[in-house]
Amino acid sequence: DLPPLVVVGSANADIYVEIDRLPGEGETVAAKSGLNLAGGKGANQAACGGRLSYPTYFVGQIGDDANGRLIRDALETSGGVRLDYVASVGGTPTGHAVVMLLANGENSIIIVGGANMCGWPSVLGDEEGLEVVKKAGVVLLQREIPDSVNIQVAKAARSAGVPVILDAGGMDTPIPPELLSYVDIFSPNESELARLTGMPTESFEDVGRAVRKFHDMGVKQVLVKLGAKGSALFVEGEEPIKQPIISAPKVVDTTGAGDTFTAAFAVALVEGKSKGECLRFAAAAASLCVQVKGAIPSMPSRESVTGLLQSLIHSPA
Ligand code: RIB
Repeated sequence: DLPPLVVVGSANADIYVEIDRLPGEGETVAAKSGLNLAGGKGANQAACGGRLSYPTYFVGQIGDDANGRLIRDALETSGGVRLDYVASVGGTPTGHAVVMLLANGENSIIIVGGANMCGWPSVLGDEEGLEVVKKAGVVLLQREIPDSVNIQVAKAARSAGVPVILDAGGMDTPIPPELLSYVDIFSPNESELARLTGMPTESFEDVGRAVRKFHDMGVKQVLVKLGAKGSALFVEGEEPIKQPIISAPKVVDTTGAGDTFTAAFAVALVEGKSKGECLRFAAAAASLCVQVKGAIPSMPSRESVTGLLQSLIHSPA
């Protein structure tokens, strides 16, 4: 049996509004459409694992409401993500996010924590609750749940020898040093790296200097997502491995692309692929994700990712 991918994190109902431009202060703008789709960085990453046909558990908190059911359905139909450790929190709504989507596929997002931010002891309160973490092949965390929960999970994973990947996406508060001390791979995007270090990230050299701050804090591997500039894996003491983006014919919606990248990387890693292959696999998954609207609805299948990678090998330079 393959050791599962265990994603501990948030689940949100993404309230999509498609707009031509962001409203200014005191201004009202009309959206071209409004949609309610399943999302949240934790649920997105779990859905990605499931769609890639890797055995995946999602551990999270939802409300006892229609949005909670939306998320359960979306995860169950994403390759059968296991929901044994998802708790419904009475009296608190499922978390939600307002996703303002522009015509170029870029977005601005506001999150409302809801059930993501409370009631966690009901899921992971005891050693038994952490069993799933200890049996994982890799544990994937983000920053849309309390830091204290991430610390508890990462500590349990580390003591069981399970690698921990922390995606920097979510709250913009400083990352507790204790959490970083249990992290094997830290994955920020360019703006998160700049914000967390207070350093410029314009050039690749800038990025390398900012990454070194995390190496100095004890994080040996940093996986940086650089948007249109691609991605890079920095392993302390080694040359960084760069991966250009695999460009999409049309970018419809970038929401969840970072989640797809991190989760696809984690799946490839636990499958034993080389670091370069992990980066390529993740870049292909992210390229497919941006071509479809929605976060969970846009997670690519294993076949589509391998098909895209195959087509790149066979296409003339
Ligand atoms: O990373 C994308 C996600 O951020 C969205 O699905 C939204 O829910 C927010 O958590």
